[in-house]
Amino acid sequence: MNTLQKWLGPVLFCTCLGGGLTLGWSATTDLNKKRSSEVAVLQNALYDQECGSCHFAYQPGWLPARSWDKIMTGLKDHFGENATLAAEPQRQLTDWLRVHAADHAQGGKIQKMVRSIPAQATPIRITEIPYFQKEHRKLPLRTWKENPQVRSLSHCATCHPQAKEGSFDEHAVRIPNFGPWKD
Ligand code: HEC
Ligand code: HEC
Repeated sequence: MNTLQKWLGPVLFCTCLGGGLTLGWSATTDLNKKRSSEVAVLQNALYDQECGSCHFAYQPGWLPARSWDKIMTGLKDHFGENATLAAEPQRQLTDWLRVHAADHAQGGKIQKMVRSIPAQATPIRITEIPYFQKEHRKLPLRTWKENPQVRSLSHCATCHPQAKEGSFDEHAVRIPNFGPWKD
């Protein structure tokens, strides 16, 4: 969001509704925040247990259903690890991921990210999505790959402290050994 929008947003909001400045200000910034970088958070203890033990439990809204299907049918060799499940949890989690996948509108930046996936592609990594790569292209290797406390961009929550709450706002980023991100 550029500075002009930042200032004009609340002003227009107040003019239209004739509301107080404080109300207009907070309502507009909340809305913008939601639009920009939030993904739906869903509670699923089975998912956290089975898919959150080795890494951050990626919200289903990050990938389209075809991607989750590919991941769930390939758990035997899951990025070099064996992550196979018993038949019943396998079925339950596949259904759950499919229902809540990114194919269903999210709005904002996350939807933009998902739309950047070519129709014929089935990425099994969020970090492979073109828009994800665009968002993270300014990060020098020393902030992640060469940073012993990060190592891989797959570790969302090491830099996005509110990742679990579905919030990935760039202003909240704290990179271990580096601190806040200044664009
Ligand atoms: C035994 C450990 C283990 C378990 C259990 C596991 N994973 Fe993974 N997963 C990995 C590893 C290792 C990677 C690669 C991480 C990296 O490149 O830094 C990965 C990567 C991923 C990625 C891609 C992240 C990216 O780079 O965007 C997704 C999506 C994923 N896992 C989903 C799942 C799901 C869904 C489950 C549960 C069915 C699961 N994982 C269970 C080890 C595991
Ligand atoms: C090394 C730290 C780091 C890791 C790991 C990381 N990010 Fe980020 N992320 C950033 C930084 C820094 C920005 C802001 C980049 C910029 O403004 O140029 C960002 C921006 C974003 C944005 C856009 C936010 C906005 O307000 O526009 C999203 C969405 C996002 N990251 C999601 C993720 C997801 C999902 C993962 C894990 C798969 C992840 N990030 C892993 C550091 C990280």
